[in-house]
Amino acid sequence: MVGPGDDAGIFRYNNTLLVETVDVITPIVDDPYTFGAICAANAVSDVYAMGGIPLTALAILGFASCDFSSLVIKKLLKGCIDKLEEAGACLIGGHSIEDNEFKFGLAVTGIIETKTILKTDGASPGDILILTKPLGTGIITSAYKRGKLKNHALKEVVASMLKLNKTASKAAVMCGAQSATDVTGFGLLGHGLNIAKSSGADLVISYDKVPLMKGVRKYAALGLAPKGAHRNFVFCSRDVIFPVNFPKEAQLILSDPQTSGGLLIALPSKGLKKFDNVAKKEKMSYWIIGEVQKGKGKIVIE
Ligand code: CO
Ligand code: CO
Repeated sequence: MVGPGDDAGIFRYNNTLLVETVDVITPIVDDPYTFGAICAANAVSDVYAMGGIPLTALAILGFASCDFSSLVIKKLLKGCIDKLEEAGACLIGGHSIEDNEFKFGLAVTGIIETKTILKTDGASPGDILILTKPLGTGIITSAYKRGKLKNHALKEVVASMLKLNKTASKAAVMCGAQSATDVTGFGLLGHGLNIAKSSGADLVISYDKVPLMKGVRKYAALGLAPKGAHRNFVFCSRDVIFPVNFPKEAQLILSDPQTSGGLLIALPSKGLKKFDNVAKKEKMSYWIIGEVQKGKGKIVIE
């Protein structure tokens, strides 16, 4: 029913709709338990971005077996299993290979109902654009890797990456959204353009309303944005209209690759009040960053 190009594929078997996705990443934090949990939150996120419910997961692990003790792997898997449990999903197997660069990820299977599918091509002019997590995981973790910030400064980023997009997905579905995606490796601009192009509409985003993690502006201005942010910017820039004299660091922030980023939801305006109620009840943060307008698949930054 849904093939490559969306956050996850959807396959119909009789009356059951399966949602399937896979995501593998390299370590972004030192602690194996935390990294395992972030990997799980990141991998189930694509099921949430479709409006589905994750059920089972298979782990994919690449590591140099002589360099890591089995205790490290046990902690990694424990973090993963605990986070999956929070999502209501279960690790039922996996596969490991010898690899000089450590990698970990999951293939996740979930279920979904036709009426709750959030496709990237479902945004309509007039919809409100909602983002559920601040931007900055790429810039801040890359600043950390280069020794520019202390361990405790990573707290906000780690807490954000550990947060499941479960409530955000539920709220989007309950409030009548037709379109959502999770902001991950291609940054807000890349994933936003995917919605804009497939929906045949423009996304108008107010930069001042885009939530940023603490320190992001500073580190971006210091030239600490990761390579991926530069690549994303080059890839997206011809379809994005920036204001005159828009700072380079702001362009990179909007292009910053996110790990376990939030959902970008196109919500019909009549669903906003209910969305706000759900968010308050579930203590979920969200930011209105712009709206969908008639157009040809561009992003306009104001
Ligand atoms: Co995705
Ligand atoms: Co993905």
